[in-house]
Amino acid sequence: MTPSPHERAAALRRQINAHSHRYFVLHDPIITDAEFDALFQELQALEAAHPELRTADSPTWRIGSDLAEGFAKARHAAPILSLANAFSAEDLADWETRNKRIAPEASWAYVVEPKFDGLTIVLRYEAGVLVQACTRGNGTKGDVVTANARTIQSIPLRIPVSGDQESPPLLVVRGEILFTKEAFARLNEARREAGEPIYANARNTAAGSLKQKDARKTAERALSAYCYDVVHSEGLSIDTRMAQRALLESLGFAVPPEVTRCEDLAAVQARLAWWEAQRPQLPYEIDGIVIKVDNLALERSLGIAGKDPRGMVAYKYQSEEATTRLLKVVSQVGRTGRVTPTAHLAPVFVGGVTVTHATLHNYDLVATMDLRLGDLVRLKRSGDVIPYIIGPVSSARTGEEQAVTPPSVCPASGDPLVREADTVDLLCPNTTCPERIFRSVTFFASRGGMNIDGLGPRTLRLLIDTGLVSDEGDLFTLTAEDLLPLEGIGEKKTALLLDAIRAAKDRPLAQTITALGIPGLGETMARAITKAVSSVSGLAAIAQQVRDAATSAAQQIPPLEDTFTELLLKSITSADPAGRAVRLTTSEYTDFDAPLHEAVQPCFARALEAIRPLVQIDGVGPSLVGAILAWFSDARNTAMLEKMQAAGLRLEEAPPAASSASLEGRSFVITGTLPTFSRKDARAFIEQHGGRVTGAVSSKTSFLVAGKGGGSKRAKAAALGIPVLDESALRALADDSGS
Ligand code: IVH
Repeated sequence: MTPSPHERAAALRRQINAHSHRYFVLHDPIITDAEFDALFQELQALEAAHPELRTADSPTWRIGSDLAEGFAKARHAAPILSLANAFSAEDLADWETRNKRIAPEASWAYVVEPKFDGLTIVLRYEAGVLVQACTRGNGTKGDVVTANARTIQSIPLRIPVSGDQESPPLLVVRGEILFTKEAFARLNEARREAGEPIYANARNTAAGSLKQKDARKTAERALSAYCYDVVHSEGLSIDTRMAQRALLESLGFAVPPEVTRCEDLAAVQARLAWWEAQRPQLPYEIDGIVIKVDNLALERSLGIAGKDPRGMVAYKYQSEEATTRLLKVVSQVGRTGRVTPTAHLAPVFVGGVTVTHATLHNYDLVATMDLRLGDLVRLKRSGDVIPYIIGPVSSARTGEEQAVTPPSVCPASGDPLVREADTVDLLCPNTTCPERIFRSVTFFASRGGMNIDGLGPRTLRLLIDTGLVSDEGDLFTLTAEDLLPLEGIGEKKTALLLDAIRAAKDRPLAQTITALGIPGLGETMARAITKAVSSVSGLAAIAQQVRDAATSAAQQIPPLEDTFTELLLKSITSADPAGRAVRLTTSEYTDFDAPLHEAVQPCFARALEAIRPLVQIDGVGPSLVGAILAWFSDARNTAMLEKMQAAGLRLEEAPPAASSASLEGRSFVITGTLPTFSRKDARAFIEQHGGRVTGAVSSKTSFLVAGKGGGSKRAKAAALGIPVLDESALRALADDSGS
């Protein structure tokens, strides 16, 4: 008998939620992505036809919707408390002594959990359905973020996720929202590739991602949630923390991993040492360890001190934050002319290193934080992230502190700085600013760029000051006669440097393109671009065609002179499933009369055709295309390329000579140390045989090539059932797949 739409929708919801749980919480999927997608699409279609079937626990909420939620406030079912801190073994002993005075005869077993560095979420389930999610707020009332929380895959939409257990009539749980280290790194990688500024702090980014007006934005961020407390419930009787955790886990929540029960404080101390050692390898950031009395009746009888329940304590890693003095703020000019403030600090030991400098990103931020010279500032260093300043300790001010004034002229060239509309950055507009030249040639010659040995900062400054080098192209026409008269540069150094420069003429094209320093264009993208457009002149030609199209369009509609490229970039859409087909929607320039708009349509069509090879590359979006067009439209850059061309640099590449196509259509991830191949060699080998190499293991990965080490990728591959090859198996596969 065919089920009714109602029954079918219910069955689909159940299956999909159970499969998501297996994938995102248990990391143990039992169906393929394609099978999952098919179920999901079936449910979407059913709900589209019968909107009344879209219940609160429908997994289709996971993708978010643009129905902006204005963040109403809601009162919590019980106060959302905080935790007292402990920083040492003595603090912990004091804590226990104080407690034992209150409850002398109790049994004192503890539960030891990781303290996630994220933000609190409070989830309310009525009759098993997630009906509300709130932030902590002031502890009494929080912001309602239900639509956003529903997009987080490890938050169950209905409990129990599977099995035939009864759901309690009411359950309010507390958990932590965070980015795993990998998800955060991937987000930043994507931003880097797109030329967007990277995020320094995972916790703040998680908070920002959760509080998006448009839940679809939250859905794009791969947030995770771990649940560690029952705030309020009806129909449950649980005696211990351990039992509570087991219950949450069985209902389908992701719970803190590696939680242990310790009989006494000595055992707790041993466990703290274990966590400390694990910390660098953990997939998530922790800022401490939470120690809770296991017995919940005991916890209740201990009561609350202020806002902190006495029955638990946060053992915090102290070294992460420090206070120090802000000595001065120095402006630095970057290779693109951006002028950024750097904080010079009184040396302070934090997170295992001595910190003397921190970037302040931009002067707006300095103003927002109200930083003043001489301030005592709070500094944070988390994981391997660069240290940053949290803010001033305003209460420690003496009145002697001085305001930080943004510079009005470039510290290197003296030119008045400009600020482009809609940006927070100050720019030195002088393309011949010696500091800009220094930075951009340094980047060009660096290891990640053309790898020119022997061009140290002192030599380079000399070359710039004497006018021998005014851009990267000038390096290639330097002669012994130029170098020998310079102070401190003898015959030997001259010969070495000239050799190194000569060698750099023959770098692979992708390496050269990366070295040019086009904003947002990293090595991976450069490689993909060289495949699509096999020469630098090809890229220049694309930019020229777009400029020509803009010129003809501006003859019809003069304002297009300035806005043509912007409109063109806006029309790049990734929504088209057929593979980023470029199109222009009229809504983007409704300012123009219809007939005029028709007249410029062919110009847009031509320009779209010109950029198509770029747009079709996976991962190339509007901002990167814009950066490439802008770079190749700058006369200084084209002049520089002419110098390089004249000097005989390799600026084109024969389309890749696939030595066979035996690996075509297969996607590989490389991890660990291989016996003879370097990572680069392995990648080249796979690509020569027509295969693709990506950075992260996903269900689309065909093989993981693994050497020594490579733990997390191996585990992921195992979880997804992806075959693992060693180096010789890879060679064998490349050899016989062809025949
Ligand atoms: S228990 C009554 N357990 O740390 C307090 N909190 O500094 C209940 N946190 O606001 C909190 N991991 O957001 C608890 N395993 C964990 C935690 C944890 C992270 C957060 C929580 C709290 C903050 C207190």
